Amino acid sequence: MDVNSFSLAGQVALVTGAAGGIGARVALGLAEFGAAVGVLDVEGSDLQATADSIAAVGGRAHVVAADVTDGDALTAAVAEVESTLGPLQLAVNAAGINNQIPAEDMARADWQRLLDINLSGVFLSCQAEGRAMLARGGGSIVNIGSVSAHIANRGLDQVHYNASKAGVLQLTKSLALEWATEGVRVNSVSPGYTATPMALSPQVWPLVEGLQKDIPMQRLAQTEELVGPIVFLLSGAASYVTGVDLLVDGGAVAW
Ligand SMILES: NC(=O)c1ccc[n+]([C@@H]2O[C@H](COP(=O)([O-])OP(=O)(O)OC[C@H]3O[C@@H](n4cnc5c(N)ncnc54)[C@H](O)[C@@H]3O)[C@@H](O)[C@H]2O)c1
Repeated sequence: MDVNSFSLAGQVALVTGAAGGIGARVALGLAEFGAAVGVLDVEGSDLQATADSIAAVGGRAHVVAADVTDGDALTAAVAEVESTLGPLQLAVNAAGINNQIPAEDMARADWQRLLDINLSGVFLSCQAEGRAMLARGGGSIVNIGSVSAHIANRGLDQVHYNASKAGVLQLTKSLALEWATEGVRVNSVSPGYTATPMALSPQVWPLVEGLQKDIPMQRLAQTEELVGPIVFLLSGAASYVTGVDLLVDGGAVAW
C-alpha cells in the first residue's frame, strides 16, 4: 500500500465550526496533511486565529463567515472557497452548540435552535458541499457526531443535543448510500468528551469533570486526537469506507 494515500496534499477542504475547539484543530490538522482549507464559522468568530495557525505551518487557508442554518450562505461559501483555493474535495462539518435544559422546562425555541444548527446545519452543509463534489465526480465528507448519539449522557439534561447527534449519524448513513456510486463518501466521527470551550464551559464542566472516571482511559480527549481519525476517513486510505461512524472516545461507549 502506498503510504502517501494518507496524504491530503493538493486537495481543497472546507471545515465548518473552524473557529471552535475541534474545528480549529482539525482545520490545522488537514493543512498539516497537505490540504488547502476553507475555514467557516459565524460572523464575528475568531477565524483569523485558525487561518494564522495554518499559515504558521506553511499552509493555505481562506476565511469565510457563514451561518450553517443558511443554505444559500453555505452555497456561496463553497463557491468562494472554490474560486480562491480550487475545487472542493474534502469537508468536515464540526459546527455545533450544546446547552443543558431539563426536558420539562425546554422551550420549543430552545429545542428548535439546537436542532437547526446541529442537525439541519449538518444537512445543509453536506448538501452545499455534496453538490460541488458531485459536479466534479468525487469527494469525502466527515460529519462530527458524538458519543451522545450512542448513549444518553449521565447527569446531562440535553435531550435536544442527544437527539440531534443521533440524527447526524443516520443522516450520514443516508447520504453515504445516496452518493455511494457517485464518488462521494460520507462518514462521521463521534468524539467523547473533548477538552474544548464546549466541554469546559462553566455549565458543562462541573458535570463532566466527575464523569472522567466513567471513561476507560480516565481522561478527556485532546482536540489533536481527532485529527488522525478524521484524516484517515477523508483520505484515499479509506477509499472503501462510507456510511460508518468512528467513535473516538477513550473506550467510553465500550464500557
Ligand atoms: N467538546 C466535546 O466534548 C464534544 C464531544 C462530542 C462532540 N462534539 C461536537 O464537536 C463539534 C465541535 O464542538 P467543540 O467542542 O469544538 O465546540 P466549540 O463550541 O468549541 O466550537 C463549535 C464552533 O461551532 C460554531 N458554530 C456554532 N453555531 C454555528 C452556526 N450556526 N454556524 C456556523 N458555526 C457555528 C461556533 O461559533 C464554534 O466556533 C460540535 O458538533 C460538537 O457537538 C464535541
